[in-house]
Amino acid sequence: MLSAKSLFQEILDNDESFALFCSIAASGESQGGWENARIAALVPESQRDLAPKITRHGADEDKHGRIFSALLKKRGLEPVPVPPETDYTMLLERGGIGLAHDKLKRDEPLTVQDIVTYLAHSRVTEQRASEQMELLRKHFAGHPDVGRAVKMISNDEDNHLAYCHEELLRFAYAGHGRAIQRTLRECALAEIRVYRDVSLAVMAHMGRILGWPKPKAALLAAGIHGVYLYERLGGWRRMVSLRMPERRNALSGPATPEPEAA
Ligand SMILES: [Fe+2]
Ligand SMILES: [Fe+2]
Repeated sequence: MLSAKSLFQEILDNDESFALFCSIAASGESQGGWENARIAALVPESQRDLAPKITRHGADEDKHGRIFSALLKKRGLEPVPVPPETDYTMLLERGGIGLAHDKLKRDEPLTVQDIVTYLAHSRVTEQRASEQMELLRKHFAGHPDVGRAVKMISNDEDNHLAYCHEELLRFAYAGHGRAIQRTLRECALAEIRVYRDVSLAVMAHMGRILGWPKPKAALLAAGIHGVYLYERLGGWRRMVSLRMPERRNALSGPATPEPEAA
């Protein structure tokens, strides 16, 4: 039967598909880490209190990148090049979503509006990360090789999402509500397209590696288009709502270290 669990199990069981999966994940995480570190360095004076949390956010993403690299190494595999069409973080940036890398490379302080843009972009992408890791946690929390890594990353992504809700609500109360809603909507509608395209590209690569028969590949592609349709018709709204999270101040303090054996 075709299920998320059986698909991921197949990817996990084959060295080549596992190497591609971990390489794509590690690259996305470390790009996220770099972006957050730059944003933390350029936080405007008026938002100084936010800087340690952005630093922590970046440190978590860097840690996730290292965890995925460590999973590869543990299996005696080398990272493989990430095909550009599977590079979610880069495609979002190219699509003008979030803060442009050109801006982050400059040494000029960001504006409050930039910080709101960063948080809105994160609100949307952390929702995706949190849902994807939740799915992996559901099926693979007890897996001997990836279980610990999956649980830790999933918990971190939930924290990131909680932090985005909390900080965006704070900015909304401070009068940025309209800008936040507009940015969230733009981000979500762009993200669901990029997510669809990246999912199709990743599945095409996996299908080639794992020798999937045409009907199986077609069924999967249809499933991805179905998800997009659901999201376009209203599912995207779950990515733009704001609610005070149960976990407050989820990113206070330093990052928890990665498990030794991850
Ligand atoms: Fe992450
Ligand atoms: Fe995250």
